[in-house]
Amino acid sequence: MAAAKHSQISTICSLLLLCATLPLMAAAAAQQRKPSVAVEGVVYCLSCKYAGSGSLIDATPIQSANVSVSCANSGVYQINQTDVHGYFYSWLDGPKLGRGGLGNPIQACTVKLVSSPLEACNVPTDLNHGNDGAKLRFEGKVVKSPHYAVFYAAGPLAFRPQMCAN
Ligand SMILES: *[C@@H]1O[C@H](CO)[C@@H](O)[C@H](O)[C@H]1NC(C)=O
Ligand SMILES: *[C@@H]1O[C@H](CO)[C@@H](O)[C@H](O)[C@H]1NC(C)=O
Repeated sequence: MAAAKHSQISTICSLLLLCATLPLMAAAAAQQRKPSVAVEGVVYCLSCKYAGSGSLIDATPIQSANVSVSCANSGVYQINQTDVHGYFYSWLDGPKLGRGGLGNPIQACTVKLVSSPLEACNVPTDLNHGNDGAKLRFEGKVVKSPHYAVFYAAGPLAFRPQMCAN
């Protein structure tokens, strides 16, 4: 009798446990299916020859340039650096993103030039709105590895030389 009662109780307990964990498992699965969001772009130094026109002809990538990525309403503001190819990317999801997340990154986020390490090429230009905030574009880039992520592009952005010899 006592054994039967015990097993009844443990059945109820495990059912309750199942009911309690199912939503958690579903939430975890949804979390996994939700892609990370990244922004990428390239920062150049405009060639003196074409700097006036804002053309990227003969422009050279800038390594260790800093760009900021900010997203309205989600508190995202981060500074990321370009690599040797002038390429930067920025993961936008962090623990500080609340339940609301980013919203639509295309509407919420912009990228700005912050600094260039090159004394000879450190004047930010507004090419593609590098000064007042470049909008993001979705170009169909979705990667599966190292984890599921959707990439948005901004720019290309550019600094220009302060002085150009003629
Ligand atoms: C970009 O900057 C943020 C904040 O400084 C940092 O957490 C992150 O690791 C950097 N790199 C990328 C690729 O997001
Ligand atoms: C870019 O940002 C990094 C990290 O915040 C900083 O150490 C570095 O001095 C910055 N570079 C320039 C050129 O401002």
